[in-house]
Amino acid sequence: MTPHRFLPSGPLKGRIRVPGDKSISHRALMFAALAVGRSRISGLLEGEDVMATAAALRTMGARIAREGDDWVVDGVGVGTLLQPDRALDMGNSGTSARLLMGLLASHGITAVLTGDASLSKRPMDRVIEPLSQMGAQFTASPGGTLPLTVRGMQPAVPIAYRLPVASAQVKSAVLLAGLNTPGTTTVIEPVPTRDHTERMLRGFGVEVRIEERDGERCVSLSGPADLAPCDVAVPGDPSSAAFFAVAASIVPGSDLVLENVGLNPTRDGLFRVLVQMGASIERLDEREVGGEPVADLRIRHARLRGIAVDPALAPSMIDEFPVLFVAAALAEGRTTTAGLEELRVKESDRLSAMASALRTIGASVEERANGLVIEGTGGAPLAGGGPVATHLDHRIAMSMAVAGLASRHGVQVDTTEPIATSFPNFLALLDEATG
Ligand code: S3P
Repeated sequence: MTPHRFLPSGPLKGRIRVPGDKSISHRALMFAALAVGRSRISGLLEGEDVMATAAALRTMGARIAREGDDWVVDGVGVGTLLQPDRALDMGNSGTSARLLMGLLASHGITAVLTGDASLSKRPMDRVIEPLSQMGAQFTASPGGTLPLTVRGMQPAVPIAYRLPVASAQVKSAVLLAGLNTPGTTTVIEPVPTRDHTERMLRGFGVEVRIEERDGERCVSLSGPADLAPCDVAVPGDPSSAAFFAVAASIVPGSDLVLENVGLNPTRDGLFRVLVQMGASIERLDEREVGGEPVADLRIRHARLRGIAVDPALAPSMIDEFPVLFVAAALAEGRTTTAGLEELRVKESDRLSAMASALRTIGASVEERANGLVIEGTGGAPLAGGGPVATHLDHRIAMSMAVAGLASRHGVQVDTTEPIATSFPNFLALLDEATG
Protein backbone atom coordinates (compact mmCIF):
# COMPACT_ATOMS: atom_id res chain seq x y z
CA MET A 1 0.00 0.00 0.00
CA THR A 2 1.31 3.47 -0.89
CA PRO A 3 0.08 6.15 1.54
CA HIS A 4 -0.40 9.60 0.05
CA ARG A 5 -1.07 13.04 1.50
CA PHE A 6 -3.36 15.31 -0.52
CA LEU A 7 -2.31 18.86 0.30
CA PRO A 8 -4.49 21.97 0.40
CA SER A 9 -4.54 23.44 -3.09
CA GLY A 10 -5.09 26.65 -4.97
CA PRO A 11 -8.01 27.00 -7.39
CA LEU A 12 -8.76 24.36 -10.04
CA LYS A 13 -8.46 25.95 -13.48
CA GLY A 14 -8.37 25.11 -17.17
CA ARG A 15 -9.97 22.32 -19.19
CA ILE A 16 -9.62 18.62 -18.50
CA ARG A 17 -11.12 15.48 -19.98
CA VAL A 18 -11.96 12.58 -17.66
CA PRO A 19 -11.63 9.01 -19.00
CA GLY A 20 -14.41 6.97 -20.57
CA ASP A 21 -17.48 5.80 -18.70
CA LYS A 22 -16.88 2.56 -16.81
CA SER A 23 -20.40 1.16 -17.18
CA ILE A 24 -20.49 1.91 -20.90
CA SER A 25 -16.97 0.52 -21.45
CA HIS A 26 -17.85 -2.87 -19.90
CA ARG A 27 -20.98 -3.10 -22.03
CA ALA A 28 -19.21 -2.04 -25.23
CA LEU A 29 -16.68 -4.89 -24.83
CA MET A 30 -19.33 -7.47 -23.93
CA PHE A 31 -21.72 -6.62 -26.77
CA ALA A 32 -18.89 -6.36 -29.29
CA ALA A 33 -17.74 -9.82 -28.16
CA LEU A 34 -21.26 -11.14 -28.85
CA ALA A 35 -21.47 -9.59 -32.33
CA VAL A 36 -20.27 -11.52 -35.37
CA GLY A 37 -17.57 -9.38 -36.96
CA ARG A 38 -15.46 -6.38 -36.01
CA SER A 39 -16.49 -3.50 -33.74
CA ARG A 40 -14.34 -0.47 -32.94
CA ILE A 41 -14.53 1.34 -29.58
CA SER A 42 -13.17 4.84 -29.00
CA GLY A 43 -12.77 6.43 -25.58
CA LEU A 44 -12.74 3.06 -23.78
CA LEU A 45 -11.81 3.35 -20.10
CA GLU A 46 -8.49 1.54 -19.65
CA GLY A 47 -8.98 0.98 -15.92
CA GLU A 48 -8.37 -2.36 -14.21
CA ASP A 49 -12.09 -3.19 -13.93
CA VAL A 50 -12.68 -2.88 -17.68
CA MET A 51 -9.48 -4.79 -18.42
CA ALA A 52 -10.82 -7.65 -16.24
CA THR A 53 -13.87 -7.80 -18.53
CA ALA A 54 -11.62 -7.77 -21.62
CA ALA A 55 -9.45 -10.60 -20.26
CA ALA A 56 -12.49 -12.76 -19.46
CA LEU A 57 -13.98 -12.22 -22.93
CA ARG A 58 -10.66 -13.14 -24.56
CA THR A 59 -10.64 -16.39 -22.58
CA MET A 60 -14.03 -17.13 -24.14
CA GLY A 61 -12.87 -16.57 -27.72
CA ALA A 62 -13.20 -12.83 -28.50
CA ARG A 63 -10.20 -11.04 -30.04
CA ILE A 64 -9.70 -7.70 -28.29
CA ALA A 65 -6.77 -5.44 -29.12
CA ARG A 66 -5.75 -1.80 -28.89
CA GLU A 67 -5.26 -0.17 -32.31
CA GLY A 68 -3.95 3.38 -32.02
CA ASP A 69 -6.27 5.14 -29.58
CA ASP A 70 -9.16 2.76 -30.29
CA TRP A 71 -9.96 -0.79 -29.27
CA VAL A 72 -10.93 -3.33 -31.88
CA VAL A 73 -13.05 -6.35 -30.99
CA ASP A 74 -13.69 -9.39 -33.20
CA GLY A 75 -16.76 -11.01 -31.68
CA VAL A 76 -17.68 -14.69 -31.56
CA GLY A 77 -21.48 -14.33 -31.75
CA VAL A 78 -24.30 -15.11 -29.32
CA GLY A 79 -24.37 -18.80 -28.35
CA THR A 80 -20.82 -19.57 -29.42
CA LEU A 81 -18.69 -18.42 -26.50
CA LEU A 82 -15.89 -20.88 -25.81
CA GLN A 83 -15.45 -22.86 -22.62
CA PRO A 84 -12.81 -20.91 -20.59
CA ASP A 85 -9.70 -22.98 -19.81
CA ARG A 86 -8.99 -21.14 -16.53
CA ALA A 87 -10.77 -19.24 -13.76
CA LEU A 88 -12.07 -15.80 -14.76
CA ASP A 89 -10.47 -13.22 -12.43
CA MET A 90 -12.90 -10.34 -11.91
CA GLY A 91 -10.45 -8.36 -9.75
CA ASN A 92 -12.34 -5.58 -7.91
CA SER A 93 -15.13 -5.34 -10.47
CA GLY A 94 -18.72 -6.05 -9.46
CA THR A 95 -19.95 -5.03 -12.90
CA SER A 96 -17.67 -7.58 -14.64
CA ALA A 97 -18.73 -10.34 -12.26
CA ARG A 98 -22.49 -9.77 -12.34
CA LEU A 99 -22.86 -9.01 -16.05
CA LEU A 100 -20.63 -11.90 -17.11
CA MET A 101 -22.61 -14.25 -14.85
CA GLY A 102 -25.63 -13.26 -16.95
CA LEU A 103 -23.78 -13.92 -20.17
CA LEU A 104 -22.54 -17.31 -18.99
CA ALA A 105 -25.93 -18.36 -17.59
CA SER A 106 -27.44 -19.05 -21.02
CA HIS A 107 -24.34 -20.56 -22.64
CA GLY A 108 -23.59 -24.29 -22.34
CA ILE A 109 -20.30 -23.73 -20.52
CA THR A 110 -18.98 -23.93 -17.00
CA ALA A 111 -16.81 -21.21 -15.50
CA VAL A 112 -15.22 -20.32 -12.20
CA LEU A 113 -15.28 -16.63 -11.19
CA THR A 114 -12.83 -15.24 -8.65
CA GLY A 115 -12.21 -11.74 -7.31
CA ASP A 116 -10.15 -9.71 -4.86
CA ALA A 117 -10.86 -9.44 -1.11
CA SER A 118 -13.41 -6.64 -1.56
CA LEU A 119 -15.33 -8.28 -4.41
CA SER A 120 -15.31 -11.63 -2.59
CA LYS A 121 -17.44 -10.06 0.17
CA ARG A 122 -20.09 -8.61 -2.13
CA PRO A 123 -23.51 -10.26 -2.61
CA MET A 124 -23.97 -12.29 -5.80
CA ASP A 125 -27.28 -13.87 -4.73
CA ARG A 126 -29.08 -10.95 -6.37
CA VAL A 127 -28.02 -12.32 -9.78
CA ILE A 128 -27.88 -16.00 -8.79
CA GLU A 129 -31.60 -15.87 -7.95
CA PRO A 130 -33.00 -14.79 -11.37
CA LEU A 131 -30.34 -16.64 -13.37
CA SER A 132 -31.19 -19.88 -11.50
CA GLN A 133 -34.82 -19.36 -12.50
CA MET A 134 -33.55 -19.31 -16.10
CA GLY A 135 -31.90 -22.72 -15.56
CA ALA A 136 -28.28 -21.91 -14.71
CA GLN A 137 -26.66 -23.65 -11.76
CA PHE A 138 -24.37 -21.97 -9.26
CA THR A 139 -22.03 -23.17 -6.54
CA ALA A 140 -21.07 -20.11 -4.55
CA SER A 141 -18.97 -19.47 -1.46
CA PRO A 142 -20.83 -19.02 1.86
CA GLY A 143 -23.19 -16.03 1.78
CA GLY A 144 -23.59 -16.25 -2.01
CA THR A 145 -20.17 -14.77 -2.75
CA LEU A 146 -17.15 -15.33 -5.00
CA PRO A 147 -15.36 -17.58 -5.77
CA LEU A 148 -18.23 -19.33 -7.49
CA THR A 149 -18.87 -21.77 -10.30
CA VAL A 150 -21.58 -21.16 -12.87
CA ARG A 151 -22.94 -23.92 -15.10
CA GLY A 152 -24.85 -22.32 -17.91
CA MET A 153 -28.05 -23.76 -19.39
CA GLN A 154 -28.47 -23.83 -23.16
CA PRO A 155 -31.28 -23.39 -24.04
CA ALA A 156 -32.20 -21.36 -20.97
CA VAL A 157 -35.76 -20.52 -19.93
CA PRO A 158 -37.08 -16.97 -20.45
CA ILE A 159 -38.42 -15.17 -17.38
CA ALA A 160 -40.19 -11.97 -16.41
CA TYR A 161 -38.30 -10.66 -13.37
CA ARG A 162 -39.20 -7.77 -11.09
CA LEU A 163 -36.05 -6.27 -9.54
CA PRO A 164 -36.17 -6.49 -5.73
CA VAL A 165 -33.29 -3.96 -5.48
CA ALA A 166 -32.73 -1.01 -7.81
CA SER A 167 -29.70 -2.45 -9.63
CA ALA A 168 -28.62 -1.90 -13.22
CA GLN A 169 -26.21 -4.79 -12.80
CA VAL A 170 -29.02 -7.23 -12.02
CA LYS A 171 -31.17 -5.84 -14.83
CA SER A 172 -28.27 -6.18 -17.26
CA ALA A 173 -27.35 -9.69 -16.11
CA VAL A 174 -30.89 -10.93 -16.84
CA LEU A 175 -31.04 -9.13 -20.22
CA LEU A 176 -27.62 -10.52 -21.20
CA ALA A 177 -28.83 -14.03 -20.34
CA GLY A 178 -31.95 -13.29 -22.39
CA LEU A 179 -29.89 -12.67 -25.53
CA ASN A 180 -29.26 -16.43 -25.91
CA THR A 181 -32.60 -17.58 -24.49
CA PRO A 182 -35.40 -18.56 -26.88
CA GLY A 183 -38.51 -16.46 -26.19
CA THR A 184 -39.05 -13.14 -24.42
CA THR A 185 -37.08 -12.12 -21.34
CA THR A 186 -38.49 -9.18 -19.38
CA VAL A 187 -37.09 -7.13 -16.51
CA ILE A 188 -39.50 -4.98 -14.51
CA GLU A 189 -37.99 -1.99 -12.74
CA PRO A 190 -40.07 -0.35 -10.00
CA VAL A 191 -37.33 2.32 -9.84
CA PRO A 192 -35.47 3.13 -13.07
CA THR A 193 -31.71 2.50 -13.05
CA ARG A 194 -28.98 3.42 -15.55
CA ASP A 195 -30.15 2.41 -19.01
CA HIS A 196 -26.86 1.98 -20.90
CA THR A 197 -27.60 -1.69 -21.63
CA GLU A 198 -30.89 -0.88 -23.34
CA ARG A 199 -29.44 2.02 -25.33
CA MET A 200 -26.36 0.15 -26.49
CA LEU A 201 -28.12 -3.11 -27.37
CA ARG A 202 -30.24 -1.11 -29.79
CA GLY A 203 -27.01 0.24 -31.32
CA PHE A 204 -25.92 -3.38 -31.86
CA GLY A 205 -29.20 -4.04 -33.70
CA VAL A 206 -31.19 -5.79 -30.97
CA GLU A 207 -34.87 -4.91 -30.66
CA VAL A 208 -35.34 -3.80 -27.05
CA ARG A 209 -38.93 -2.99 -26.04
CA ILE A 210 -39.50 -0.52 -23.22
CA GLU A 211 -42.99 0.02 -21.81
CA GLU A 212 -44.43 1.67 -18.76
CA ARG A 213 -46.95 -0.56 -16.92
CA ASP A 214 -48.58 0.56 -13.66
CA GLY A 215 -45.79 3.06 -13.06
CA GLU A 216 -43.10 0.41 -13.57
CA ARG A 217 -40.59 0.29 -16.40
CA CYS A 218 -40.64 -3.00 -18.32
CA VAL A 219 -37.70 -3.89 -20.57
CA SER A 220 -38.03 -6.89 -22.90
CA LEU A 221 -36.01 -8.56 -25.60
CA SER A 222 -36.44 -11.77 -27.59
CA GLY A 223 -33.78 -14.40 -28.09
CA PRO A 224 -31.82 -15.84 -29.52
CA ALA A 225 -30.72 -12.41 -30.76
CA ASP A 226 -28.16 -11.56 -33.41
CA LEU A 227 -25.85 -8.66 -32.64
CA ALA A 228 -24.44 -6.70 -35.59
CA PRO A 229 -20.98 -5.18 -35.08
CA CYS A 230 -21.10 -1.52 -34.08
CA ASP A 231 -18.66 1.33 -33.59
CA VAL A 232 -19.06 2.80 -30.11
CA ALA A 233 -17.85 6.20 -28.86
CA VAL A 234 -17.67 6.10 -25.05
CA PRO A 235 -18.44 9.45 -23.36
CA GLY A 236 -16.54 10.70 -20.30
CA ASP A 237 -17.60 9.13 -17.01
CA PRO A 238 -19.90 11.37 -14.92
CA SER A 239 -18.86 9.34 -11.87
CA SER A 240 -15.23 10.38 -12.46
CA ALA A 241 -16.18 13.97 -13.36
CA ALA A 242 -17.99 14.12 -10.01
CA PHE A 243 -14.70 14.37 -8.05
CA PHE A 244 -13.60 17.40 -10.05
CA ALA A 245 -17.07 18.98 -9.95
CA VAL A 246 -17.02 18.88 -6.15
CA ALA A 247 -13.36 19.95 -5.95
CA ALA A 248 -13.97 23.02 -8.14
CA SER A 249 -17.15 23.84 -6.19
CA ILE A 250 -15.42 23.87 -2.78
CA VAL A 251 -11.96 25.34 -3.55
CA PRO A 252 -12.24 29.16 -3.68
CA GLY A 253 -11.34 30.81 -6.98
CA SER A 254 -11.86 27.67 -9.09
CA ASP A 255 -13.15 27.88 -12.66
CA LEU A 256 -12.80 24.53 -14.41
CA VAL A 257 -14.21 23.00 -17.59
CA LEU A 258 -14.76 19.24 -17.72
CA GLU A 259 -14.99 18.20 -21.36
CA ASN A 260 -17.21 15.50 -22.85
CA VAL A 261 -19.06 14.38 -19.71
CA GLY A 262 -21.85 11.82 -20.13
CA LEU A 263 -25.08 13.27 -18.74
CA ASN A 264 -27.54 10.44 -19.17
CA PRO A 265 -30.50 11.40 -16.91
CA THR A 266 -30.11 8.07 -15.10
CA ARG A 267 -26.57 9.15 -14.10
CA ASP A 268 -26.54 12.93 -13.58
CA GLY A 269 -28.10 13.14 -10.10
CA LEU A 270 -24.95 14.49 -8.41
CA PHE A 271 -24.82 17.52 -10.70
CA ARG A 272 -28.49 18.23 -10.05
CA VAL A 273 -28.03 17.93 -6.27
CA LEU A 274 -24.96 20.19 -6.32
CA VAL A 275 -26.99 22.83 -8.18
CA GLN A 276 -29.73 22.53 -5.53
CA MET A 277 -26.99 23.21 -2.96
CA GLY A 278 -26.01 26.40 -4.78
CA ALA A 279 -23.19 25.13 -7.03
CA SER A 280 -22.39 26.90 -10.29
CA ILE A 281 -22.48 24.23 -13.01
CA GLU A 282 -23.11 25.24 -16.60
CA ARG A 283 -23.83 22.68 -19.32
CA LEU A 284 -22.06 23.82 -22.50
CA ASP A 285 -22.40 22.46 -26.05
CA GLU A 286 -24.98 19.80 -25.18
CA ARG A 287 -24.79 17.03 -27.77
CA GLU A 288 -25.06 13.26 -28.28
CA VAL A 289 -22.09 10.84 -28.29
CA GLY A 290 -22.61 7.11 -28.89
CA GLY A 291 -26.37 7.39 -28.22
CA GLU A 292 -25.77 9.13 -24.88
CA PRO A 293 -26.33 12.80 -23.92
CA VAL A 294 -23.04 14.63 -23.36
CA ALA A 295 -21.94 18.20 -22.51
CA ASP A 296 -18.91 20.13 -21.31
CA LEU A 297 -19.39 21.27 -17.71
CA ARG A 298 -18.09 24.64 -16.50
CA ILE A 299 -17.82 24.65 -12.73
CA ARG A 300 -17.01 27.69 -10.64
CA HIS A 301 -16.47 27.90 -6.91
CA ALA A 302 -19.70 28.70 -5.05
CA ARG A 303 -21.02 28.81 -1.51
CA LEU A 304 -22.86 25.55 -0.93
CA ARG A 305 -25.87 25.14 1.37
CA GLY A 306 -26.88 21.89 3.08
CA ILE A 307 -30.10 20.25 1.83
CA ALA A 308 -32.22 17.16 2.38
CA VAL A 309 -31.24 15.02 -0.62
CA ASP A 310 -34.30 13.47 -2.27
CA PRO A 311 -33.97 9.67 -1.83
CA ALA A 312 -35.63 9.23 -5.24
CA LEU A 313 -32.44 10.62 -6.82
CA ALA A 314 -30.26 7.90 -5.26
CA PRO A 315 -30.12 5.51 -8.25
CA SER A 316 -28.99 8.35 -10.56
CA MET A 317 -26.01 9.17 -8.32
CA ILE A 318 -25.41 5.93 -6.42
CA ASP A 319 -21.62 5.99 -6.90
CA GLU A 320 -21.35 9.73 -6.19
CA PHE A 321 -22.46 9.79 -2.54
CA PRO A 322 -18.92 9.52 -1.10
CA VAL A 323 -17.90 12.76 -2.82
CA LEU A 324 -21.28 14.41 -2.16
CA PHE A 325 -20.59 13.81 1.56
CA VAL A 326 -17.38 15.83 1.13
CA ALA A 327 -19.33 18.70 -0.47
CA ALA A 328 -21.83 18.51 2.42
CA ALA A 329 -19.00 18.73 4.97
CA LEU A 330 -18.00 22.11 3.47
CA ALA A 331 -21.55 23.44 2.94
CA GLU A 332 -23.43 25.79 5.20
CA GLY A 333 -25.83 23.94 7.51
CA ARG A 334 -27.10 20.38 7.55
CA THR A 335 -27.26 17.85 4.71
CA THR A 336 -29.37 14.74 5.24
CA THR A 337 -29.34 11.67 3.05
CA ALA A 338 -31.58 8.59 3.27
CA GLY A 339 -32.50 5.48 1.28
CA LEU A 340 -28.84 4.55 0.82
CA GLU A 341 -28.75 0.96 2.15
CA GLU A 342 -27.13 -0.14 -1.14
CA LEU A 343 -24.01 1.89 -0.26
CA ARG A 344 -23.21 -0.71 2.38
CA VAL A 345 -22.57 -3.39 -0.29
CA LYS A 346 -20.38 -1.45 -2.73
CA GLU A 347 -16.57 -1.84 -2.98
CA SER A 348 -16.68 -1.06 0.76
CA ASP A 349 -19.45 -0.14 3.21
CA ARG A 350 -19.42 3.43 1.96
CA LEU A 351 -21.66 4.84 4.70
CA SER A 352 -19.42 3.61 7.49
CA ALA A 353 -16.15 4.23 5.59
CA MET A 354 -17.06 7.84 4.75
CA ALA A 355 -18.47 8.57 8.22
CA SER A 356 -15.23 7.54 9.89
CA ALA A 357 -12.98 9.11 7.21
CA LEU A 358 -14.76 12.46 7.48
CA ARG A 359 -14.73 12.38 11.29
CA THR A 360 -10.98 11.69 11.22
CA ILE A 361 -10.42 14.96 9.35
CA GLY A 362 -12.69 17.04 11.58
CA ALA A 363 -16.15 16.89 10.00
CA SER A 364 -19.33 16.48 12.02
CA VAL A 365 -21.13 13.35 10.81
CA GLU A 366 -23.96 11.19 12.13
CA GLU A 367 -24.20 7.70 10.63
CA ARG A 368 -27.72 6.29 10.32
CA ALA A 369 -28.76 2.88 9.03
CA ASN A 370 -29.71 4.26 5.62
CA GLY A 371 -27.68 7.46 5.19
CA LEU A 372 -25.45 10.14 6.71
CA VAL A 373 -26.36 13.46 8.31
CA ILE A 374 -23.58 16.01 7.98
CA GLU A 375 -23.20 19.46 9.59
CA GLY A 376 -21.12 21.54 7.20
CA THR A 377 -18.48 24.14 8.07
CA GLY A 378 -20.05 26.86 5.91
CA GLY A 379 -16.98 26.88 3.66
CA ALA A 380 -14.26 27.01 6.34
CA PRO A 381 -11.61 24.38 5.54
CA LEU A 382 -11.68 21.12 7.47
CA ALA A 383 -8.70 20.46 9.76
CA GLY A 384 -7.44 17.47 7.76
CA GLY A 385 -5.16 14.74 9.08
CA GLY A 386 -5.31 10.99 8.74
CA PRO A 387 -4.36 8.43 7.75
CA VAL A 388 -7.87 7.59 6.65
CA ALA A 389 -8.75 4.00 5.76
CA THR A 390 -9.92 3.67 2.15
CA HIS A 391 -10.88 -0.01 2.64
CA LEU A 392 -9.30 -0.49 -0.80
CA ASP A 393 -12.21 1.44 -2.31
CA HIS A 394 -11.29 3.73 -5.23
CA ARG A 395 -14.14 6.14 -4.60
CA ILE A 396 -13.27 6.58 -0.90
CA ALA A 397 -9.65 7.35 -1.89
CA MET A 398 -10.66 9.95 -4.52
CA SER A 399 -13.30 11.54 -2.27
CA MET A 400 -10.76 12.01 0.50
CA ALA A 401 -8.29 13.42 -2.02
CA VAL A 402 -10.90 16.08 -2.82
CA ALA A 403 -11.38 16.72 0.91
CA GLY A 404 -7.61 17.25 1.23
CA LEU A 405 -7.69 20.09 -1.30
CA ALA A 406 -10.11 22.02 0.92
CA SER A 407 -8.38 21.24 4.25
CA ARG A 408 -5.95 23.16 6.47
CA HIS A 409 -3.26 20.48 6.86
CA GLY A 410 -3.98 18.06 4.01
CA VAL A 411 -5.52 14.59 4.16
CA GLN A 412 -3.50 11.40 4.21
CA VAL A 413 -5.04 8.25 2.73
CA ASP A 414 -3.67 4.77 3.44
CA THR A 415 -3.35 3.94 -0.26
CA THR A 416 -4.04 5.38 -3.71
CA GLU A 417 -3.65 2.06 -5.54
CA PRO A 418 -7.38 1.24 -5.90
CA ILE A 419 -7.89 4.44 -7.93
CA ALA A 420 -6.50 2.54 -10.94
CA THR A 421 -9.64 0.39 -11.05
CA SER A 422 -11.74 3.25 -12.47
CA PHE A 423 -9.62 6.38 -12.98
CA PRO A 424 -5.97 5.60 -13.81
CA ASN A 425 -4.95 9.22 -14.53
CA PHE A 426 -6.76 10.81 -11.56
CA LEU A 427 -3.56 12.03 -9.86
CA ALA A 428 -2.18 13.44 -13.12
CA LEU A 429 -5.42 15.33 -13.86
CA LEU A 430 -5.52 16.65 -10.30
CA ASP A 431 -1.98 18.02 -10.73
CA GLU A 432 -2.98 19.52 -14.07
CA ALA A 433 -6.11 21.25 -12.71
CA THR A 434 -4.47 22.54 -9.53
CA GLY A 435 -1.42 23.71 -11.53
C1 S3P B 1 -23.26 -0.28 -12.45
C2 S3P B 1 -24.37 -0.22 -11.63
C3 S3P B 1 -24.30 0.23 -10.22
C4 S3P B 1 -23.02 1.00 -9.92
C5 S3P B 1 -21.81 0.32 -10.49
C6 S3P B 1 -21.92 0.16 -11.99
C7 S3P B 1 -23.43 -0.77 -13.82
O1 S3P B 1 -24.35 -0.90 -9.38
O2 S3P B 1 -22.87 1.16 -8.52
O3 S3P B 1 -20.64 1.07 -10.20
O4 S3P B 1 -22.50 -0.60 -14.64
O5 S3P B 1 -24.49 -1.34 -14.13
P1 S3P B 1 -25.74 -1.60 -8.95
O6 S3P B 1 -26.35 -2.20 -10.14
O7 S3P B 1 -25.33 -2.64 -7.94
O8 S3P B 1 -26.56 -0.50 -8.35
